[in-house]
Amino acid sequence: MAYANVLVGDENAVRWITINRPAKLNALNRALVAELGDAVAAAGADSGVRAVVITGAGDKAFVAGADIGEFVGLAPADAQAMARAGQAVFETVAALSKPVLAAVNGFALGGGCELALACHMRVASTTARFGQPEGKLGLIPGYGGTQRLARLVGRGRALELLLTGGTVDATAALAWGLVNRVVEPGDLKSAAQRLAEETGAVSPFAAARCLEAVRIGLDLPLARGQEVEAALFGLCAASEDMREGTAAFLEKRPPRFTGR
Ligand code: COA
Repeated sequence: MAYANVLVGDENAVRWITINRPAKLNALNRALVAELGDAVAAAGADSGVRAVVITGAGDKAFVAGADIGEFVGLAPADAQAMARAGQAVFETVAALSKPVLAAVNGFALGGGCELALACHMRVASTTARFGQPEGKLGLIPGYGGTQRLARLVGRGRALELLLTGGTVDATAALAWGLVNRVVEPGDLKSAAQRLAEETGAVSPFAAARCLEAVRIGLDLPLARGQEVEAALFGLCAASEDMREGTAAFLEKRPPRFTGR
């Protein structure tokens, strides 16, 4: 499907979703957020897609935030509804049952930082900058940022970004655990593609269960999380992928996973 603000393309079994409003530093307006949700859901439903990479068009920004123009004259109830709609789309990203990577090619501010946080892993170019500057506009993040940032980097570092409106560069983001790796700008696409393809070593069925266990478990006490893990471990034992993976190991051959 063709979108006005989002480009979609495949590289082997990796679906690339590119936010495409470079003249506005890929700022997220409502139409774009809806298109993004649709493109991510379509990638989830496509059995030919093993992993997804989300990036921004141009060489300056991943996403420079929600479109500030849409905030003008926004009534409180509409603002709340806008936040809930954006959160639902970003939750589609976070809850996808296949790996989603952010390839962060510049500014990841506000909603851009939140989008990167919703992804399962982040690869950044040395030009990336992360921040939640909404406070400078008299707002707070509305697409999950206050929650996911604190969970990923801890309360103190999250509050540093939230309360100063400042940014961290790629080197600091790596030290904080905000990104998985940092590469030169010219290497970003190949590095993200490589990491996405590396996730193909794991059975798609098991990968989906890992994503589920980590996503659900992070919100639970350890004992409850381990119950979820054991249940999903049991589910894996019912899968064709588990039979194939163990048989392939014992027969000293590469596995042929089907994801079932
Ligand atoms: N919403 C709407 N438009 C945005 C935008 C946003 N979040 N971020 C950038 N743009 C637009 C600018 O208005 C400008 O449009 P114009 O050329 O029609 O005037 C264009 O993108 C280029 O941005 P510009 O500010 O000229 O680039 P810069 O290199 O000087 O600065 C930033 C880059 C990212 C520092 C700056 O654009 C910025 O601070 N953006 C807002 C970041 C933010 O607060 N995000 C959170 C929003 S909730």
